[in-house]
Amino acid sequence: MSPSKEAWGSRMGVILAVAGSAVGLGNFLRFPGLAAQYGGGAFMIAYFTALLLIGIPIGWAEWTMGRSGGVRGYHSAPGIFHVVMQSPAGKYLGLLGFIIPVMVYMYYVYVEAWCLGYAYLAATGRLAAGANFGGIFAAYTGLAQDGSAVHFGLESVGLWLVLCYALNFFFIYRGISKGIELACKWGMPLLILIALIILGRVLTLGTPDPLKPDQNVLNGLGFMWNPKEVWAGLKNAEMWLAASGQIFFTLTVGFGAICCYASYLKKKDDVVLSALTAAAANEFCEVGLGGLITVPAAFVFLGTAGIVGMGTFGLGFNVLPAVFAQMPYGNFFAFGFFALLFLAAVTSSLSMLQPGVAFMEEGLGLARKPALALLGIVTAFGSMICWWFSKDLKALDTIDFWVGNVMIYLQGFILILVFSWSKGMGIERGWREAHEGAAVRIPRIFKFIMKWVSPVFLSIVLLMFVLSNVFGWNFSFADPRFAPTGRITDLVGDKHSDVARLTVAFVIVGLGFSALLMHLAGKRWTANPPEKQT
Ligand code: ALA
Repeated sequence: MSPSKEAWGSRMGVILAVAGSAVGLGNFLRFPGLAAQYGGGAFMIAYFTALLLIGIPIGWAEWTMGRSGGVRGYHSAPGIFHVVMQSPAGKYLGLLGFIIPVMVYMYYVYVEAWCLGYAYLAATGRLAAGANFGGIFAAYTGLAQDGSAVHFGLESVGLWLVLCYALNFFFIYRGISKGIELACKWGMPLLILIALIILGRVLTLGTPDPLKPDQNVLNGLGFMWNPKEVWAGLKNAEMWLAASGQIFFTLTVGFGAICCYASYLKKKDDVVLSALTAAAANEFCEVGLGGLITVPAAFVFLGTAGIVGMGTFGLGFNVLPAVFAQMPYGNFFAFGFFALLFLAAVTSSLSMLQPGVAFMEEGLGLARKPALALLGIVTAFGSMICWWFSKDLKALDTIDFWVGNVMIYLQGFILILVFSWSKGMGIERGWREAHEGAAVRIPRIFKFIMKWVSPVFLSIVLLMFVLSNVFGWNFSFADPRFAPTGRITDLVGDKHSDVARLTVAFVIVGLGFSALLMHLAGKRWTANPPEKQT
């Protein structure tokens, strides 16, 4: 095997690609939903604290380790951990960085297909006033019954799912510079332009119904952003968990995607400013665009009742079509909104495929085409599980919880420990390496944060996460109580869900299979180390 010759075409290209990976459904659906749920002010304090203490520092660590692994010939998290740690354990510690993007892709692309399909529905006027939005949403997603979303007509999800697969694999096949970079160079500016147009529309809505003077734009923004009982909010452990989880999800930190992208940099390419710029672009899109569009628009037309308890998907695919239908030129704006969601999703899902392909190439010695074919079969199988077992979105929700939440926390935690504490890297070397070719210096305080604060903060978050989501802690320190949560009763006992069991079994088989692949890759890397060939 010879080291990959792939590289980014320009610095702007890699920044846009990482920003593209970060800006996704999380920015325009997940974030506004959470911020509204926890009452603007307090949530934003927890959110920015998590951004400073885990998001940005772990992002720097991931970029630095990725570039370091890349110049030595490795591009997947297992390979990068293996060479950076100089230990056979490395590939197992990086295993999650292989399986997370592959498994998150399985359901993410499915939601991406909803976005594309909804854009079509909007463009053809089927999301107009008078339509049964709840019914369309249920039929489209198969909420009511397993198997009911499996259709291929233009007005159901199948065709769009196939199209999304084709598009994603086409760009990945074309490679780093001619595929991913090209898609993000066009996709990102277009996305921001569409978002600005929709934002302009939302902010000028005024008071559309004079009979309901309270439902105006200012109150909509206030509903989202006015601090409500900040101090009580800050004492809410659940909110800190939600804010930290959102930071990981939105920055795509801890997925194994950023280290893969950074591995295509050259030794002296900047990582410090690039990481910061990509994170800033994400925050602009999340807080500045996502935070001002979704919830205020829903509030102006439907009031609080349209928002509270709607859930992320309900807000995007059930409430917003109803909102657009009440606006002048509603179809145009609905089309713009779903096209925007689709663009955001596709630039993110690309970053979930590349790590898998990179591992198969370097770890199993496969050529690009067979690697893509294998990845296509595996991910399609997972997507079909989400697509078929659609009742209450059980399969999707179960993978999202165990992989898109639990595993991401774990991988982020492992990553910062390896960066700051492992023999092969460690904070001193990590700090030095981060600054090689850096356009700016990281403030020294972050050395302390990366070594101590991020791991401690994250272990507390992880502990609370397990206590609450697995053991059912009631989030009370004064009067703590525990009761099995839905995540557990889904799996054991009389009220278990067969679909949840099947989905978790699928995840466990995936983990076992990945461990076997790590073993095979390890043998290959010991016999013929890519770093010796550079
Ligand atoms: N970072 C991506 C998002 O926000 C995964 O959707």
